[in-house]
Amino acid sequence: MVLVSGSGTNLQALIDATADPAYGAVIVAVGADRDGIAGLERAERAGLPSFVHRVKDFPDRADWDRALTGAVQGYEPDLVVTAGFMKILGPEFIAAFAGRIVNTHPALLPAFPGAHGVTDALAYGVKVTGCTVHLVDAGVDTGPIIAQGVVEVTDADHADGGDALHERIKTVERQLLVDVVGRLAREGHRIEDRKVRIPA
Ligand code: GAR
Repeated sequence: MVLVSGSGTNLQALIDATADPAYGAVIVAVGADRDGIAGLERAERAGLPSFVHRVKDFPDRADWDRALTGAVQGYEPDLVVTAGFMKILGPEFIAAFAGRIVNTHPALLPAFPGAHGVTDALAYGVKVTGCTVHLVDAGVDTGPIIAQGVVEVTDADHADGGDALHERIKTVERQLLVDVVGRLAREGHRIEDRKVRIPA
């Protein structure tokens, strides 16, 4: 199961990887918190079932959380991958899929969590940044780290507001996410004192 909010290039990388049976994982469905996004078009082109649950269509956040949890449970996924899903998951969702939610973040956590990881790192003046694939816990981008990729920041990155840097991060990120999800699917994992061990 993959959850998206935007362009869905990480989703596309997973779709492409799952075309090979040796990859060891299939995508059972794609969920989104908004419609009209490229990520949903990618799901449709790949013939994957999809659904949209928008926060604003529910009386409150807890109802949205319950609906999203129920929709995902209906597909009985082993793993839930949040790939550019720009909503904080609710407590019911996190409890239902504890230890099985994989997020990808465009910075080297624990630095620069939240929705602006690329521009926050750039504004801070770091010389290297990158991406982090991690398990989701109740905090924002605080869960156990599975893998990280490093990307150098150049002087030119400051001129365009971080777009080129984000694209370079995403090139590393897609490969890292595909690699991690495949390994988790094929080998399993366990968590020991915050360290994610593969194989389990
Ligand atoms: C990715 O860089 C992902 O790390 C980031 O959104 C991008 C989605 O790209 N996620 C966050 O910033 C979450 N805080 P995509 O839609 O092309 O896969």
